[in-house]
Amino acid sequence: MSKKEIIKKGYLDIKNFLMSYQKIWEKEVIDSYPQAFLEYPNEWPRDLENLSFDDLEKLDSRCQEFFLGTHSFFQSSTGKLIKQIEDLEKKWAPPHYNHQNNLELKMADMLFLKPKKKYEIEQLLTPLQDFFSDLEVTSAYDLGGGVGHLSRIISEYFKTGKNQTIKVTSIDINSDFQKSGEKKWKKFKKVNFNYLNADLNTLDIDAIAEHNYATVGLHTCGELAISQMRLMKNSKAMACFNVPCCYQHLKIESANLSRFAKENPLPWTINALTLAAKAHYREADNPKHKKSFQDKWQVKNYRYALQMILCKHHLNHISTVGEAPMKDYYQPFADYALAKLKQFKITNETHRSLEIFYSSEATQSRLKELFLCNIIRWQFGRLLELLIIYDRHLWALEQNFKVDCFSVFNERISPRNTAFILKK
Ligand SMILES: C[S@@+](CC[C@H](N)C(=O)[O-])C[C@H]1O[C@@H](n2cnc3c(N)ncnc32)[C@H](O)[C@@H]1O
Repeated sequence: MSKKEIIKKGYLDIKNFLMSYQKIWEKEVIDSYPQAFLEYPNEWPRDLENLSFDDLEKLDSRCQEFFLGTHSFFQSSTGKLIKQIEDLEKKWAPPHYNHQNNLELKMADMLFLKPKKKYEIEQLLTPLQDFFSDLEVTSAYDLGGGVGHLSRIISEYFKTGKNQTIKVTSIDINSDFQKSGEKKWKKFKKVNFNYLNADLNTLDIDAIAEHNYATVGLHTCGELAISQMRLMKNSKAMACFNVPCCYQHLKIESANLSRFAKENPLPWTINALTLAAKAHYREADNPKHKKSFQDKWQVKNYRYALQMILCKHHLNHISTVGEAPMKDYYQPFADYALAKLKQFKITNETHRSLEIFYSSEATQSRLKELFLCNIIRWQFGRLLELLIIYDRHLWALEQNFKVDCFSVFNERISPRNTAFILKK
């Protein structure tokens, strides 16, 4: 089977599975409240009901020990579904980059790098070295370069196949990031790359580039990844190294990018793209993650209880109520709800009526059911992300580029971990 045929097979395998659960991933549980319960199989919340807080957190974070263990939950139909999702993910996950790890970051270059960024840059050293050593370009553009971490490393560590230094330019729409980077590096040593403050969607790189060039992009959010890949068409860009993220910022039409996906489309929604962008796996037993799971539950409880009250007042269509600081979700529910209800000119609820409603057994049990449905919904995130990746892979093959697609980070440390290399 040709590479294209394999990628098409993967695309269809994932897409066909996802289509059976469209009603689940296409919208938030609360968006169709109270109908949500009709769309979620009855057994889903029931199968999860007896799991402890710790087990639910482990399920949500795909804790390996929990998944490999013999918990009776995995005998239930919901447990089997979740295993099926995991198997499909494993089957089609891009292979890990074959790291020889012969390169290390110098101590001085670790300065200013937060642990996650340091990890990412370290993991990128070998693939980037391989990328550049195979090219005959003299310049590289770091798209969405932010403060310039990656540009700094590329300009210092890599040369092209002909042992030429690479002239690096970090392009970003946000000048504050660039100013802050410039200030940092200047204090410390000479910077060997340039900043260009520009919007990649309107910038014509070909007009400023002297010769053929390569582009790199680490965590190019939303459309930026698409712009980077499209730049390979009809331009002097010879190669591109891209790690995408933030699919929720994509235009819907950019989600079915390839001809093949257009012929076999997934009916993407913003909620589905958001789900793809949030897929995560975490290290087991990390107290930070338990706290963030607790916060997530608390936020959802208040938000869902508020939605129930809005529905009581015939405002079922409200889908956004604005964010609130985390501390508001740990104040009495009535304090949170009264402030929000004022926004919708609902003034006939009192502190007491809201507290009675929130603490009632019926409300609490409904809230738990909704949260449990959510935990299952979140399990579809990674498959949605994989479908986007397969679609982009197909698009690049359709353009006759040489394509390499691989996992470059451990997803438990940096979940948006897929890299693409496209070459003409
Ligand atoms: C997630 S950050 C990644 C920053 C950096 N590459 C890194 O990994 O640390 C995405 C960056 O892309 C920039 N960006 C988004 N859209 C852009 C556009 N159309 N043109 C230029 N920069 C853009 C943002 O300002 C932001 O700095």
